[in-house]
Amino acid sequence: MMKKISSFVDYFQQYHESVTDPEGYWAKIAETFNWHKKWDKVLDWNFKEPKINWFINGKLNITENIFERNLPARKDQVALIWEPNDPKGKEIKLTYGELFEKVCQFANALKKSGIKKGDRVAIYLPMVPELPISMLACARIGAVHSIVFAGFSATSLSDRINDSKCNMVITADGLFRGNKNVHLKSIVDEALLSCDSVEHVVVLKRTGDPIEMKAGRDIWWSDFIAGVSTVNKAEVMDSEDTLFILYTSGSTGKPKGVLHTVGGYMVFAEYTFLNVFQYNEGDIYWCTADIGWVTGHTYIVYGPLLAGGTSIMFEGIPTYPDPGRFWEVVDKYKVNQFYTAPTAIRALIAQGDEWVRSKDLSSLKVLGSVGEPINEEAWRWYHDLVGKGKCPIVDTWWQTETGGILITPLAGITPTKPSFATLPLPGVQPVIVDNEGKVLEGNNVQGNLCIKFPWPGMIRTTYGDHERCRINYFSTYRNLYFTGDGAKRDEEGYYRILGRVDDVINVSGHRIGTAEVEDAINQHPKVVESAVVGYPHEIKGSGIYAYVTCDALSEDEARTIEKEITDLVSKIIGPIAKPDKIQLVAGLPKTRSGKIMRRILRKIGEGDATSLGDTSTLLDPGVVEDIIRGAKVDVKR
Ligand code: PRX
Repeated sequence: MMKKISSFVDYFQQYHESVTDPEGYWAKIAETFNWHKKWDKVLDWNFKEPKINWFINGKLNITENIFERNLPARKDQVALIWEPNDPKGKEIKLTYGELFEKVCQFANALKKSGIKKGDRVAIYLPMVPELPISMLACARIGAVHSIVFAGFSATSLSDRINDSKCNMVITADGLFRGNKNVHLKSIVDEALLSCDSVEHVVVLKRTGDPIEMKAGRDIWWSDFIAGVSTVNKAEVMDSEDTLFILYTSGSTGKPKGVLHTVGGYMVFAEYTFLNVFQYNEGDIYWCTADIGWVTGHTYIVYGPLLAGGTSIMFEGIPTYPDPGRFWEVVDKYKVNQFYTAPTAIRALIAQGDEWVRSKDLSSLKVLGSVGEPINEEAWRWYHDLVGKGKCPIVDTWWQTETGGILITPLAGITPTKPSFATLPLPGVQPVIVDNEGKVLEGNNVQGNLCIKFPWPGMIRTTYGDHERCRINYFSTYRNLYFTGDGAKRDEEGYYRILGRVDDVINVSGHRIGTAEVEDAINQHPKVVESAVVGYPHEIKGSGIYAYVTCDALSEDEARTIEKEITDLVSKIIGPIAKPDKIQLVAGLPKTRSGKIMRRILRKIGEGDATSLGDTSTLLDPGVVEDIIRGAKVDVKR
């Protein structure tokens, strides 16, 4: 295990070293991994193109660093614990030795079926052990995994498959989540009607529901691996070969495929995992995320397993069969580090304290938060009731694009402050800029959060469209990576993340692009146009508020249209993108040049019309009054 940052003084020393000699700093950390060939140069970069290359010409395989490097010392140590949706179901524990065999076998099966280095494989699976097994098998043979969260719709899945021309889909008959049973395979069948690139579909039996298998295309997981060897030699990869693509929403257009490469991501995943959570030998660590999101990629699978840790993956939801489930699982496995999202915490607060009090949570040492700003009430509840006041909370700020955590306290080392992500990790150089791109020096400043120097885990490109990557992240402010978040740096130099400043809504810690939701709504035949904004939501952090204009509606149509719109969004994107509020309006506030003034709609959605600013430039100022009158919230004037 690499040496961890051990004190606050050590943190400041390492931080200093990491900015004065970044290449030397990261080289020392990268030395702790197994390389077939060391790099010739640590870093080559510019944010103009952008070009970001780390550990240039280094040769390695990330799974050798999970397995061969950790074996044989950890052969019999549990790597993964799987807790099923049904608490009466049997958990699965896989040791490093067992997991290695399964990964190697699936890797061989992939190869046998014709998948080779560089091919893209879409994984659309429930939270079952076969998900990390198939993702690691891809990494083993150099295939690029593109995991799609199993809550996404057929259209979302086919968009993602087509964008990166996946050759294969790995899925299951269905999934269990809470008391729901979702027929995944039929969603895949529907998606594949519009995907030409997919040759094979591997289907895991999970729910046992009847499904259709298409001859010549579909094969059961058990048949796919039957008789296949469990011995596999890893493909030797270049540091900058692609490890995975993960689609995420931005402010414009369809979700983009954020691309991460092998070397830098590996170094950053283990480094951040060990340091942020201060994970120690033998600890039991649980991140409640779904592997379909980046948090699951880096902090259920790659980070903990590279570090030789024991990582729990959970198939279910926090409230099934009752709101005590999280704490029951903590108690059952004696979890030491627990990592979840504010939205889950807020949902559980609403269920009362008894669910927590009745469980033995004395094993907990560290609590983590991720995905959205954690409000002070949630922070206090988490800290006082769950952590009994003795567990530091690491409020970890990062993004799909950053590959790993960038701004966070180090557990037990950095003094925490509710709702502050506190300080950047070594190697991370944040700056706050105003809207003109002027860097705001010193403390007590607020503006747009950017990063001015590369870190190993950062995005390299967006799949198939480098220009989009440049425009999205590197063109807003010169020579800076723009995060899309607002932030403030307080008098102590601590960072507080204020939320998105672009047209992305963070719903329950999931990124939803307003443009995507609008496109979906606009597909309704009666809809003329729509504008979607976020508004404060007690549990979800932000809710989705849609203002919609329609053709003349009959009485019957008017009664059903809201539900039809909701169902349509659910079908096109997935249930997570369903609008919480739909307001039918006569017109949308537009500038004379036809641009929708979202700022005004956002204010109204927040229930505040006291500072709408100058509305005289609007094409038709009267529409604002109408919208306020019909708003689905009391609007203060
Ligand atoms: O707005 C920030 C918010 O989540 C966004 C990134 O979303 P995604 O790529 O889906 O990754 C989520 C998990 C890393 C950010 O731009 N966000 C993430 N963590 C925090 C946060 N906002 C405030 N505090 C955080 N700790």
